[in-house]
Amino acid sequence: MEFTDVIKSRRSIRRFSDREVEDEKIKQILECGRLAPSWANKQCWSFIIVRDKEKIESLSQAAGMINSWLKKVPIIIVACGDPKLSGIRSGIEYFMVDVAIAMEHFILAAANLGLGSCWVGSFDENRIKEVLEIPNNMRVVAITPIGYPVKKAGIKENITRFIVQSKKRKPLNEIVHYDRW
Ligand SMILES: Cc1cc2nc3c(=O)[nH]c(=O)nc-3n(C[C@H](O)[C@H](O)[C@H](O)COP(=O)(O)O)c2cc1C
Repeated sequence: MEFTDVIKSRRSIRRFSDREVEDEKIKQILECGRLAPSWANKQCWSFIIVRDKEKIESLSQAAGMINSWLKKVPIIIVACGDPKLSGIRSGIEYFMVDVAIAMEHFILAAANLGLGSCWVGSFDENRIKEVLEIPNNMRVVAITPIGYPVKKAGIKENITRFIVQSKKRKPLNEIVHYDRW
């Protein structure tokens, strides 16, 4: 796909088909994350690919009622960062930024391969760390399902999209300043 078409076609997907995701495609997605830029190129990230159904169910519970649709997804990528490996500027911990960039690479790579994803940032981090035996020094930054989207969105998905007005974006003249604020 043309790069801007990938950007324009991507949307959060919360309902997936049973079609199995090819290992090769997961590899391609991971490779795109691996190439992301990071603070001093420290690459403070680690990613866990979860296919185990029981673990997916537990992760869904850790992400709360609002994300209960996660229990039916085929794969979840859990993106973690090591704060000590990244930097801090004016109190801002850059491991969040580093991992977020890699995560967005995953999401766009998935869209390019015809796969759906959805950034999920609302979860009980300690519960996820427990379920996946993630070491204490690591922080869980975000999770995303990966799978083939079904053509028709589910009711829950449509409600979420309506509540967050997910198609809406601010116009450029509201968010861009030239030469001064
Ligand atoms: C940091 C972050 C956290 C998010 N957390 C959730 C979440 O917990 N559950 C969910 O369903 N969507 C979540 N989203 C998805 C947003 O709701 C979605 O990206 C936004 O509404 C725009 O819709 P679109 O992705 O379809 O363009 C999150 C997105 C971001 C960037």
